[in-house]
Amino acid sequence: MTNRVVLAYSGGLDTSVAIGWIAEETGAEVVCVAADVGQGGEDMNDIRQRALDCGAVESIVLDLKQEFADEYCLPALRTNALYLERYPLVSALSRPVIAKHLALAAQMHGADTVAHGCTGKGNDQVRFEVGIGAIAPELNVIAPVRDSGMTRDKAIQFAEDKGLPIDQSKRSPYSVDQNFWGRAVETGFLEDPWNAPIEDVYSYTSDPSVTRDPDDVIISFSNGVPTAIDGRPVSMLEAILELNQRAGAQGVGRLDMVEDRLVGIKSREVYEAPGAIALITAHQELEDLTVERDLRRFKFSVEQRWTELVYDGLWFSPLKDALDTFVDSSQQYVTGDIRLRLHAGRAVPTGRRGEGSLYDFDLATYDTGDTFDQTLSKGFVQLWGLPSRIAARRQQKLGKP
Ligand code: ARG
Repeated sequence: MTNRVVLAYSGGLDTSVAIGWIAEETGAEVVCVAADVGQGGEDMNDIRQRALDCGAVESIVLDLKQEFADEYCLPALRTNALYLERYPLVSALSRPVIAKHLALAAQMHGADTVAHGCTGKGNDQVRFEVGIGAIAPELNVIAPVRDSGMTRDKAIQFAEDKGLPIDQSKRSPYSVDQNFWGRAVETGFLEDPWNAPIEDVYSYTSDPSVTRDPDDVIISFSNGVPTAIDGRPVSMLEAILELNQRAGAQGVGRLDMVEDRLVGIKSREVYEAPGAIALITAHQELEDLTVERDLRRFKFSVEQRWTELVYDGLWFSPLKDALDTFVDSSQQYVTGDIRLRLHAGRAVPTGRRGEGSLYDFDLATYDTGDTFDQTLSKGFVQLWGLPSRIAARRQQKLGKP
């Protein structure tokens, strides 16, 4: 029986050429798997057909939108996952769901190898390979762009020689990766971090400097899961899509940053993630209202560690699993409504309420009706500061400044 390779297929030049390239190099049959994670753009059926036209023996399109929203974006939202305190892990979230389905497809189609089109310089190679290995440790992985000299020039030459149906004129001047959690743009003139992005780089967001009326939106959560927008029930997927539209129209969620990749490179990245940023902003605000002080403080360290694990390709790992359990438990009372004002590139919380609230008006008020017994504070403050006073006395006694 001929060997089979499952290839992660995007429909672009590199992976289209990889089909014939892998077949020539290994003698294997190539089965293409294209994943729909809400990247939009081309019709997935056209992509499926192109794989066959380029020589794949089978071509499969998987609709992973629901799974991606519920099992990847939602945990990231409940963790307020922002790498380097800003980047909502757009590509880092999609790779593990794709990796999982590549591994499953390999098992189902009798393939012993999975192939991807990543270069050796990025994070995505790590996320694919570590993810595949965590689902099916027996599989081999090959990466023609990285490992067998399939450079851009050679790929174009190969496509011309074989007459592959690839329209190079549609190519973006940037390297773009997108799904409904956001959009990542790299390369081109952006490789000089001093160059400002131009409007042309963006497609999920409108120019935030254009004057328009603000959009006030109420997002309701139940146990840290978004359940309604302006009172209308929504799924996680619907919440993301609606907020991508509404926050995107106000220019919310643009990021321009220099990022630390796992392979050690600092790279300039431009992102837009209007729905993700609006949702995370609202979720953080509701946690401020509903999560007990020490749990809230401790969760920040968990959020950072979880985010770094996922960024670094360790979605399927024991520590990530354990942190998920912590985050789950922390969301028990994250139930209530947040009103956000979407305007001029920002999502600003302007109101919060809900059954999970720990806010006690009678304790907080400075007006009549105050139930906080201020006489208790005097002794509390004295004992709280006692260790510092004792240390200061020692310093005085020993004559140290
Ligand atoms: N630097 C980002 C990340 O590592 C985005 C990667 C985008 N991938 C791409 N093939 N353009 O998550």
